[in-house]
Amino acid sequence: MMPRARFFLFIVVLALAACSPEPSALEQQAAQATASALQTASAPTPAPAPTATPTGAEVALAVEEADVAYTLVTGGDYGGLVFVGVGGEIDGVINPTLTANPGDTVSITLINGDGVEHDLAIDEFGVSTGSLTELNQQTTVTFTVEQEGEYVYYCTIPGHRQAGMWGTLRVGNPQSQAAVGENIVHHPADLPPPIGEREPQMVRVTLTTQEIEGQLADGTTLTYFTFNGTVPGPFIRVRVGDTVELHLRNATGNTFIHSIDLHAVTGPGGGAVFTQTNPGEETFFTFKALNPGLYVYHCATPSVAHHIANGMYGLILVEPEGGLPPVDREFYVMQGEIYTVQPFGTLGHLDFSMEKMLAEAPEYFVFNGAAGALTREENALRAKVGETVRIFFGVGGPNFTSSFHVIGEIFDRAYPFASLTSPPLTDVQTISVPPGGATMVEFKLEVPGRYILVDHALSRLERGLAGYLYAEGEENPEVFSGQMTEGSGH
Ligand code: CU
Ligand code: CU
Repeated sequence: MMPRARFFLFIVVLALAACSPEPSALEQQAAQATASALQTASAPTPAPAPTATPTGAEVALAVEEADVAYTLVTGGDYGGLVFVGVGGEIDGVINPTLTANPGDTVSITLINGDGVEHDLAIDEFGVSTGSLTELNQQTTVTFTVEQEGEYVYYCTIPGHRQAGMWGTLRVGNPQSQAAVGENIVHHPADLPPPIGEREPQMVRVTLTTQEIEGQLADGTTLTYFTFNGTVPGPFIRVRVGDTVELHLRNATGNTFIHSIDLHAVTGPGGGAVFTQTNPGEETFFTFKALNPGLYVYHCATPSVAHHIANGMYGLILVEPEGGLPPVDREFYVMQGEIYTVQPFGTLGHLDFSMEKMLAEAPEYFVFNGAAGALTREENALRAKVGETVRIFFGVGGPNFTSSFHVIGEIFDRAYPFASLTSPPLTDVQTISVPPGGATMVEFKLEVPGRYILVDHALSRLERGLAGYLYAEGEENPEVFSGQMTEGSGH
């Protein structure tokens, strides 16, 4: 066994040397690591101490038996917290996409290239290299892949994945499973203008419930339940004292009964008792907006949590007498959870999971209906330095309280529980918003840059919950200056 291993490693070193006449630093590093493994494997005495790291011989065998073999070295000088490919087509590529076919045995050799603790894991295959703590330490994992799909390999050391230590393992041609649906994202700048000074009046609102095959993430769709085709539904804006005639149409061809409960309503079920509406039918009721505030509305047809999780929520603003103080920009953002049978990141059409909903174990967390929706160029919030921004923020849920925070900003004014008749809190970092609740926050933009909307329960960031607010304008070094670092994730 020993001579065979030695021979194999010799070939590896030769092959690396043959790749280019002047081996890159990477290749030299890999060769060094391989050479040191060779020494370990061939040392006659003493017997190696028990360790989780396989010997060079075991590595060589595993690599030899694999259908595809890849070597990755951890970043260091090659770009910070990243994996860098070694040899073959991935040589020198940062976080290379690794490919394999269904049924292949895959081996991945990880080399510690920077002396910082790292590992490599792929959750779906239960693969983990274990920690590599020392420079040039290496280990190999071998596993078999069956299901077509795209899987994430990443470093599990806290913060490393977020900083950029992850890449994709593509098995087969998963794009053949990708699904395309309709855009259900409600644009955060799409809301009616302020009402301001006017007398109370009669307001007619018509909402249509639509069941839509919508885009949840790239290549991933879900059957959404919506008001007017978007998540959240339309932003309804009235003033205190207005009388609202609310019509609910359930689109022809829908499968489910739908209804509406508006928290701004004083009356049975918030309207839900009068609006249980069959597909193809219409119902209505009338209410007077007695209390100013920012209120959640949602479908209230059993299972209510199911209808909410699938997208049936929105906000209604009842402006106080005389309206709200003027601001330069207003935005409309709502948070929700999505419960699917298939794990987060699966391509294709995903099915709703009642079991996960009852266990309150969502696969996705979303702002405005889809994974990362508000990080996309076309949906991001945009404003200018010097402007005052107001965000109407609500939680549809159905279950999770949001710790709403904007990274890099402080809320100059925050209205807890969206009580607009109480004085606001000032200088708030994070505000708690319960399911079926809302808040209104305001702040002035002083410094240009990208600000990130999050729920500060930050695990949810990994499941799709983030949005960008871009502030354009002149630098303001008196308030903030510095040199941007790589890998911050900002
Ligand atoms: Cu790491
Ligand atoms: Cu419904």
